[in-house]
Amino acid sequence: MATHPQTDQPTKHVLVDIDVDRGRTWSPKQLQYIYSAHRYPIMYGGYRSGKTDALVRRALRYSLKWPGNRGLMARYSLGESYDTLLVNWAQVVPPELYEIATDRWGWQITVKTEGAPSSILVRALDEPQKYESLELGWVAISQMNEQYVTKRMWDTLDSRLTWKLPDGSHPHYSCFGEANSGAKWIIDLWSPKRQEEDPDEEYEAVEVSMFDNAANLPAETVEALSRKPEWWKRWFIYPCWEPLSERAGEPVFEDHFDFDLHVSPDPVTPVPGWPLIRGWDLPGPVAVVWFQVLRNECRVLYELQAEPGDAIEQVKQVVKNTHNTLFPGFACTDYADPAAFTKSPTDQKTCAELLRPEIQLLPGERTITGRLEAGRLWMDRLNHSKPALSIDPRCRILIGGLAGGYAWKQSAGVLLPEPQKNEYSHVIDAWLHGLARVSALGDLGPESEREIMGPRVFGPRDEL
Ligand SMILES: Nc1ncnc2c1ncn2[C@@H]1O[C@H](COP(=O)(O)OP(=O)(O)OP(=O)(O)O)[C@@H](O)[C@H]1O
Ligand SMILES: [Mg+2]
Repeated sequence: MATHPQTDQPTKHVLVDIDVDRGRTWSPKQLQYIYSAHRYPIMYGGYRSGKTDALVRRALRYSLKWPGNRGLMARYSLGESYDTLLVNWAQVVPPELYEIATDRWGWQITVKTEGAPSSILVRALDEPQKYESLELGWVAISQMNEQYVTKRMWDTLDSRLTWKLPDGSHPHYSCFGEANSGAKWIIDLWSPKRQEEDPDEEYEAVEVSMFDNAANLPAETVEALSRKPEWWKRWFIYPCWEPLSERAGEPVFEDHFDFDLHVSPDPVTPVPGWPLIRGWDLPGPVAVVWFQVLRNECRVLYELQAEPGDAIEQVKQVVKNTHNTLFPGFACTDYADPAAFTKSPTDQKTCAELLRPEIQLLPGERTITGRLEAGRLWMDRLNHSKPALSIDPRCRILIGGLAGGYAWKQSAGVLLPEPQKNEYSHVIDAWLHGLARVSALGDLGPESEREIMGPRVFGPRDEL
């Protein structure tokens, strides 16, 4: 019977005569991992790179090669185990080969073999009693980089490898896993640097990127991920041996903002006949940004950041005076953080109420994604082969924020999809609240669209 070049079992299962690989072709890296003879192999790298499929295939191999074996497949939470691990398992493993039943802490899979059936426990790692007293022949951990999966857990699981087969011998013991780049304890154990400084041949890292698995992914996925910012791709597409926690303060607009392109060398003046937009960030330290959106051009004119203790009424006065001095005669539309329309339990009035009647706020863009997309859109856009965004060089906070001060939040080594609040964020948020509303024209009624976008002529006015 034909055998797989690197496999230790016939490609046809003798008992039930089925193809254990279900006609799949495994990539060389997947094969290296599935058939690794090391005690601690991991698949390490980017999203969608074929890691979990390889992990369940290795789990199947340990079940088939050593009849009567018993293993643990785990992820940090049970819900995720169900949504990912079991989904990958069902895709990879021929249904005739196993039965699955729920048990107290998850599922138990019984794998048919040429001898005694093998069993696999599917568990979460969120509570030690679910795994700390098991006797096992192997352990497979999916998404080892998850925040709460620790070296201590890994060591505990490794110490559970004491399982004996029915004939009294023991299987090859292995603790294996798969992880995305960036977790400190994984880097400490598996990185090439560690192997150089303190070689331990039980550890093997098979490095993979999305591109190793591109043949099995929809073309749109590969394209969409290829367009992500470079820093993001370094950790999330490719294997990277630098801890993600060292990326505290990663700029939100990296790869989009370009000082030379977007900051005008000369003062930016408003175009007569087009209304001004003011974006507001409040409550908190109030920030206001004046800008214009023309047909294919965004001109950022002025920024104002109030002191943290300033009362809204004071800020209102400063904004009115500034407007009348710098932009006399220009009508404007005001968009603010929707929080301006809610009262905190101690407030008598909302910020929006305090600014009336002279300033009538409209709600700005509610979602972070909507705001960030609007910023990116304008940074990436061209207008007759020149950048569509020009920022007045005196908008120092806005420019400092776009150049890097406006940065992602981070917690315990994990980058959160939300910008930090810092000395730059109020001005940037103010701008984005307005920008997103006037860029997402689909969201506005035709009347507001005309109001905001239509060129108009305004005579000089005595007061705002
Ligand atoms: N050898 C293969 N043959 C066919 N399809 C494959 C193969 N390896 C992986 N795939 C498919 O590619 C996709 C991604 O694989 P997998 O889920 O294993 O990747 P992953 O690295 O775990 O991704 P994630 O970052 O989403 O956890 C899945 O749809 C999977 O079924
Ligand atoms: Mg996966």
